[in-house]
Amino acid sequence: MSTRYDEAYGAWRADPEAFWAEAAEGVDWFRRWDRVLDADRAPLYRWYAGAETNTCHNAVDRHVAAGRGDQPAVIYDSPVAGNIKRVLTFAQLQSEVARAGGMLRALGVAKGDRVIIYMPMVPETLVAMLACARIGAIHSVVFGGFAANELATRIDDAKPKAILSASCGIEPGRVVPYKPLLDGAIEMSSHKPEKCVVLQREMETAELIPGRDLDWDEAMAAATPADIVPVAATDPLYILYTSGTTGIPKGVVRDNGGHLVALKWSMKNIYDIDPGETYWAASDVGWVVGHSYIVYAPLFHGCATIVYEGKPVGTPDPGAFWRVISEHGAAALFTAPTAFRAIKKEDPEGALIGNYDLSKFRTLFLAGERADPDTLQWAERILDRPVIDHWWQTESGWPIAANCMGLGQFPVKHGSSTKAVPGYDIQVVDEQAKQVPAGETGAIVVKLPLPPGCLPTLWQADDRYVESYLEEFPGYYKTADAGYLDEDGYVFIMSRTDDIINVAGHRLSTGGMEEVLSAHPDVAECAVIGVADQLKGQVPLGLVVLKSGVTRGEGEICQDLVGMVRGQIGPVASFRTCAVVARLPKTRSGKILRGTMRRIADGEEWSMPATIDDPVILDEITGTLGEVGYPGKG
Ligand code: COA
Ligand code: AMP
Repeated sequence: MSTRYDEAYGAWRADPEAFWAEAAEGVDWFRRWDRVLDADRAPLYRWYAGAETNTCHNAVDRHVAAGRGDQPAVIYDSPVAGNIKRVLTFAQLQSEVARAGGMLRALGVAKGDRVIIYMPMVPETLVAMLACARIGAIHSVVFGGFAANELATRIDDAKPKAILSASCGIEPGRVVPYKPLLDGAIEMSSHKPEKCVVLQREMETAELIPGRDLDWDEAMAAATPADIVPVAATDPLYILYTSGTTGIPKGVVRDNGGHLVALKWSMKNIYDIDPGETYWAASDVGWVVGHSYIVYAPLFHGCATIVYEGKPVGTPDPGAFWRVISEHGAAALFTAPTAFRAIKKEDPEGALIGNYDLSKFRTLFLAGERADPDTLQWAERILDRPVIDHWWQTESGWPIAANCMGLGQFPVKHGSSTKAVPGYDIQVVDEQAKQVPAGETGAIVVKLPLPPGCLPTLWQADDRYVESYLEEFPGYYKTADAGYLDEDGYVFIMSRTDDIINVAGHRLSTGGMEEVLSAHPDVAECAVIGVADQLKGQVPLGLVVLKSGVTRGEGEICQDLVGMVRGQIGPVASFRTCAVVARLPKTRSGKILRGTMRRIADGEEWSMPATIDDPVILDEITGTLGEVGYPGKG
């Protein structure tokens, strides 16, 4: 029997351009497209070529015009800032965003200019993003848990005219001053932004540098509201930097038109949400989930979005998520499995749920890392509602595989993110790019062109885009995930094929961490591997070989190294364990056997690689791993 999903997927397959033309009717355009898909520069594709629109208009102004002005748009809830709650209606959001657009204008920011936003989970961050969109500037949000060095790399790549920041972020039990990180980053970077605007928060105010820094409230008060600026559908809306296989992050570009269409379409068809409902993505605006499902998609759909500045546990207890859902009437929650592992650890029976009214809550969505069947089944049991694992990446910007709730739910198979979303042709291939049979593991690829919403390229790096994603499997986008499709077309994502690891749902590069360790004067060579962790899914583990003649204590050096990763990448790397080894296991051609070491650390079955240079080294490594708590830890 054909399902609604089958019909939608079939309609897309039969005529992708007609499918995406119809989906585009959900968006307000100032000028309609000449071509739905422009393939003139294939494999670089552009959606809705010739069309003009504005992302901020679609997120805010159109709803005010349609009579939603008094409806909540942004619901701020911060247990860590003293249990503050604040609601911005669509009309209030419009007035704030227009003013912020004027503030940017007054700083000399114009269409096409970049603006870096380095701000915590406060409504002003959304206002800042939407204000950029309003005037056609390109925002690049940098996650607050990154160190100054990471911010500096992004400043040098994006070359922002201005930076919008705040005096501090708040983590449980500590205030994180942002200003020293901001100043440090600008000192390190070659490109110097002309102006910085700082939102002063009462927990910690920052000292402003005269001539360069402005106070957010003062600049806003002095600003003249800015009108919407029409932009091309193909103009960039934002750049979001994500970990690549080196320490140099990739600037994922998102366009205006395709992003609008895909995200708007996803709200009903994937998440089964109606305009006027409240949607909650418990992530951070610094990640793609935050961009797409805290800010843009809910607002495009006329929903209220929750901006939660807190954690699943400890702020104040593991009932925090249920409190937020019930107080604000959320219909759906989207978070990473790690959040549920944290709740499960502290409230194994889900006893706190009983204290709250979850009657409006229909579905839990999980993504960002593999949802282990244990946690997923636990969530199903305590919530007694569908728990939907879905798979996507910073690059795609919206789900690649999901159980599309708006198209009729499929039976859940634990461990699978269900089926390809209409728009994506997911295939599993071997090294020769040949499809493998159902059930067999291989590289997961998506047939080109990617649907609207996915990255059209990397920021000013078409060549790197092609080389990173399109070259290895011609005609396909390489996801860098490995897994399989079963006989029913269900997708199982098992692991990455590169050195990316997922720590508490945060995407990090072990290559980037190795670059930091290698810079230590006592380190001759090193390897960082992602090992299993019961709470965070994975955590990084460093193994270093010291230069001969080094006399300092190993413990002291390891402490340095832990501090260096925290200082140069950020606390979010959770790099806490490092051990000194005499040698690293390698193949005869000199490639470090990271995969084998990971399997040993995780206590998995492993076999001696045929190409190993010296098998004895693996015994030594096993011994060292034992000393620092592996295998079996996790
Ligand atoms: N600004 C500054 N520091 C930050 C930060 C931010 N925005 N976010 C995290 N950090 C810091 C934390 O304070 C912690 O510092 P510490 O080493 O001094 O303790 C460190 O970075 C590691 O953070 P995290 O990995 O988040 O671990 P945690 O122990 O603080 O919390 C969880 C664990 C599971 C509760 C937390 O990761 C969580 O809520 N995850 C939800 C999933 C999520 O948001 N995923 C995002 C993608 S969907
Ligand atoms: P990010 O770019 O931070 O969204 O991370 C993307 C990566 O996270 C993917 O390439 C996967 O490796 C992993 N990931 C995201 N969602 C899932 C999921 N549902 N199941 C398994 N892995 C996932």
